[in-house]
Amino acid sequence: MSQSNQELSFPSPTESIEPERRTWLIACGAAGGVAAAATAVPILSSMAPSEKARSAGAPVEVDIGDLAPGAIKTVEWRGKPVWIVRRTPEMLASLEKVESQLADPKSDRTAFPVPQYAKNRHRSIKPEVLVTVGICTHLGCSPVSKFETGNQPGLGADWAGGYFCPCHGSNFDHAGRVYANKPAPDNLEVPRHMYLSDTRLVIGRDEKGEA
Ligand code: FES
Repeated sequence: MSQSNQELSFPSPTESIEPERRTWLIACGAAGGVAAAATAVPILSSMAPSEKARSAGAPVEVDIGDLAPGAIKTVEWRGKPVWIVRRTPEMLASLEKVESQLADPKSDRTAFPVPQYAKNRHRSIKPEVLVTVGICTHLGCSPVSKFETGNQPGLGADWAGGYFCPCHGSNFDHAGRVYANKPAPDNLEVPRHMYLSDTRLVIGRDEKGEA
């Protein structure tokens, strides 16, 4: 990372969230089975009005030190909800099992290009940490997390856990890969991201400086 965090002072998380954008934060928080609080802060030295506008596209830094296995944290980046999930070994094991049921298991489709470091089965840098945009690729609803396995309304008896978009019934696995023959045409977007340390994650910029 080219900018030194020590040179910056961060506003509180609440300062970074416009009131009208709280709707999806509340919805996503309610949807998560084990949801953690959002604690994203823009990488800016202050938040005067003109700088606030610029921050809409700025990377955000997130502390994931408190993210327990099986928990999901939602932060805002470019006005979109980004989910950060610490997957359990069982969640990771499900990824291979469901692959034959997926529309694009290798993330080859290009509508939402996957960064090279996430073009793998778990679609992430670290296998246990998923970072994905929580917006359905069909018509833009926010899916809900359905981490519990087995039969549930709208899901089959062999449901292996993942995400469900109740708007038109699209299902996604624990890597955000869409099941075949569903309305959503693509996997969930993986934003560019990188780690500053084991517990500090940046969303919206990667080690090559690409956003
Ligand atoms: S918006 Fe998700 S299935 Fe239609």
